Amino acid sequence: MATRTTPQPSTHAVTRTYRIAVIPGDGTGPEVIREGCKVLDALVKREGFRLEWRPYDLGGARYLKAGETLPDSVLKELREADAIYLGAIGHPDVKPGILEQGILLALRFELDQYINLRPVKLYPGVWTPLKDKGPEDIDFVVVRENTEGLYAGVGGFLRKGTAEEVALQTSVNTRHGVERCIRFAFDYTRKRANGNPSTPPHPGAGCGVARDSAPQAGRRKLTLVGKTNVLTYAHDLWQRVFNEVAAEYPDVQTDYTHVDACCMWMVKNPEWFDVIVTDNMFGDIITDLGAMIQGGMGIAAGGNLNPQGVSMFEPIGGSAPKYAGQGVINPLAAICAGGMMLEQLGEAKAAQELERAVMQVTATKLKSLAAGQMGYSTSEVGDLVVQALAHASAG
Ligand code: IPM
Ligand code: MN
Repeated sequence: MATRTTPQPSTHAVTRTYRIAVIPGDGTGPEVIREGCKVLDALVKREGFRLEWRPYDLGGARYLKAGETLPDSVLKELREADAIYLGAIGHPDVKPGILEQGILLALRFELDQYINLRPVKLYPGVWTPLKDKGPEDIDFVVVRENTEGLYAGVGGFLRKGTAEEVALQTSVNTRHGVERCIRFAFDYTRKRANGNPSTPPHPGAGCGVARDSAPQAGRRKLTLVGKTNVLTYAHDLWQRVFNEVAAEYPDVQTDYTHVDACCMWMVKNPEWFDVIVTDNMFGDIITDLGAMIQGGMGIAAGGNLNPQGVSMFEPIGGSAPKYAGQGVINPLAAICAGGMMLEQLGEAKAAQELERAVMQVTATKLKSLAAGQMGYSTSEVGDLVVQALAHASAG
């Protein structure tokens, strides 16, 4: 959906132009998105494409002023964007749930962003709470289903407010929704392995591994994470679809682990994971754990993908109101989300350059990734990434 301008007569160059809807949002969102836009602008200057930023003021402030979360007119415009770049949603003066459901979840559902892609990658120089683990051990991606499960909003109250109250919250798992998520995960695993020749399949991995055993070391592996021993309907469907689709991908090693055990392995043996596919709720929970082992919310980025439509990219760490406006929040998660956006737009080379620059900054500059402890302000960190990009292009 990129619009192409007419070739410039002087160079005959075709400039790919992407219309990016920017939603800075609440709290520290605007600060980190500013740095993200700064870095992307610096990057595209020499990459032969253009980004056209279109800002939208969705968030707590607009809700408090006008009582609206996601007006239809805005949604209509967002449907026309090539991608959405989101800071954070969440305001201390708004009751929890209103903005999350009215904006963030509404966008995921309305735009049918059925994949939430969350890389868990420890960059060089970054402290991890896992003793004796380094960047070679922590490098996997969680494919979280993003439109169904417990997030579907199906449920209700009976006899609310009485001693006999009943509250129901139903997990919705459709054949269609589960299958498209699992297919995406298999394709992604194959692509990741192919695009990453430095991590070939581990010799011997996948030989005679029982489905319920711990994952084996190695790459090009997709692990289904569920709770088949308790969620005997929902995750029975997941397991059946996973096994069926797996037959079409003989080159991808498969594994299964229950979600509780998954949390254990993520701490004890994160090197066992390559790609994980899981449902919406479990994916939400394990990616916060993932964020911690990759160095914290300051670096954790994610993409809400509709591979056939409009995708949305965000730092996964929320609006952190207590740090807002102080210039102490880490913008790297937002910058990395910008990199994922470039990748999704088809600008893989630019995305790689951005990641390389971020890795250079974590390896050589930042004291810590935590807010207020980086040794630099928010905008200085943005500047460091811009400088690292310049060095890479000069060298
Ligand atoms: C996330 C967040 C959201 C979620 C909240 C804010 C609704 O925690 O993106 O992981 O639960 O999906
Ligand atoms: Mn979450």
